[in-house]
Amino acid sequence: MSVPQPPEPIPGARLLFSLDPAVSHLNHGSFGAVPIGVQRAQQRLRDEMETNPLRFFTQGLVDRIGHTRRHLAGFLGADPDGSALVGNTTTGVAVVLQSLGLRPGDEVLSTDHGYGAVSLAIQRECRRTGAVSRVLPIPLDATDEQIVQIVRAGLRPGRTRLLVVDQLTSATAKLLPTAAIVGVCHEQGVPVLVDAAHAPGMLATTVSSIGADFWAGNLHKWAYAPRGTALLVVAPRWRDRIEPLVVSWEQESGFPARIEWQATLDYTSWLAAPAGLFTLRSLGVDRVREHNAALAAYGQRVVGDALGVPPAQLPAPGGPGVALRLIPLPAGTAVSIDAARALQARIGARLAVEVAVMSWNGRGWLRLAGQVYNTADEYERLAARLPALLAQR
Ligand SMILES: Cc1ncc(COP(=O)(O)O)c(C=O)c1O
Repeated sequence: MSVPQPPEPIPGARLLFSLDPAVSHLNHGSFGAVPIGVQRAQQRLRDEMETNPLRFFTQGLVDRIGHTRRHLAGFLGADPDGSALVGNTTTGVAVVLQSLGLRPGDEVLSTDHGYGAVSLAIQRECRRTGAVSRVLPIPLDATDEQIVQIVRAGLRPGRTRLLVVDQLTSATAKLLPTAAIVGVCHEQGVPVLVDAAHAPGMLATTVSSIGADFWAGNLHKWAYAPRGTALLVVAPRWRDRIEPLVVSWEQESGFPARIEWQATLDYTSWLAAPAGLFTLRSLGVDRVREHNAALAAYGQRVVGDALGVPPAQLPAPGGPGVALRLIPLPAGTAVSIDAARALQARIGARLAVEVAVMSWNGRGWLRLAGQVYNTADEYERLAARLPALLAQR
C-alpha cells in the first residue's frame, strides 16, 4: 500500500542531541531528550552554583527564576503574572487539587483519556477529602462537537468542582477541544484544569486562548528544557487560593513565588530552560512542528501497513502539529498496563527501538513520536521487524 512521502530531514538536527546512535528513539513523548547545548547551559549554571552555593541561593536566585518564568510564559502565550514554575505537570496538578478545598459530596470529573498518574492523584485527593471522582468515557473517534456534548451532558453543576481534561492525551494521542470545553464548563460554573503535559513546544495554541482556570504543561518534553521544568498557569480569581505542596521561605510572598520556592533544590533546570527555547527557535519553531507531525504520520502509516492495519483504522489526532501517532496492536496484545510495559521493554531490547506501548480500554496501542533527530528509515526498520517480534508472543 502506498505511503505518503516523509518530510525532508532538518540538516544537522541529530547532532544537537547526545542520544545513543545505536538506538532508534521513537518515544520523545515520554521523557523528551535534552539538546547538548541545553545540557551544557545547565552544567554551567551548576558550576556557578558549586563555586559559591551560598551566593547562588541567596543573591538573586529568586529574581532569576522570575525572569525565566516570564520568558517561558511569554513563549507559551500565558499571563506571566499568573504563571509559576513547577517541577513537572504532575506537581502542577497536585498543587491545584490540594488547593481546591474539596468537601464530602463534591465531585472531580475527568475523562477516560486522562494520564494514569493524574487519575491516581485525583483519586487520592478524593479519598482524603470525601469527594468523589467520576470519569467520562469519550470514544476514540469522537469529533470535537461530540466531545463538547459529552462534557456538557456530564457536568453536575453545584457538585462538579473541577473538570480535569488533557490538551493532548497521552495514551490516545488525541487533541481535545479544550477552549470549547472550558466554554461549556464555565457556562455551568465549573472550573477546568487542563493537563497540557505535551503542549509546550509542540502545539501552537496559546495558553490564554484556552481560558482555563488552571493549565499545567511540561517544557521538558517538546520545548527541549532540562527535565524538571513545567509551568502552572492560574486564572486571576484562583491565585490567592493556590497553596504550595511544601511551605518554605517565600510563603508570605504569595503567588507565584510561594509555589516556586520549594526550599533547597537544584533550580538550574529552570534557569537553563530558555536555552531549550533558543534551540527550538534556531531550528525554526514552525519548521520543527511541521516536520515532527509529518514524520510521526509517516511512521504511523508504514508501521500500520506492516501490521496490516487499513489507513482508515489509524487514529487521527484531530488537529495540526501533533507529533504523536497511534497504531492499534493485534487483538490480545498489551491488554494491561503490565503487558504493555513488558512489550515496550521487549521492543527496546530486541529491536533497539524505543517506543511507547499503551494499554487503553483493554486494547494495546503503539505510540510513535516524531522528532528532529528521527529519520524515516528508523520507522521503516521498525515496520520490517515488529511483525515477527509480535508473532513470537
Ligand atoms: C497527559 C500527561 N499528563 C501528565 C504527564 C506527566 O508528566 P510529568 O511526569 O512530567 O509530570 C504526562 C507524561 O507523559 C502526560 O502525558
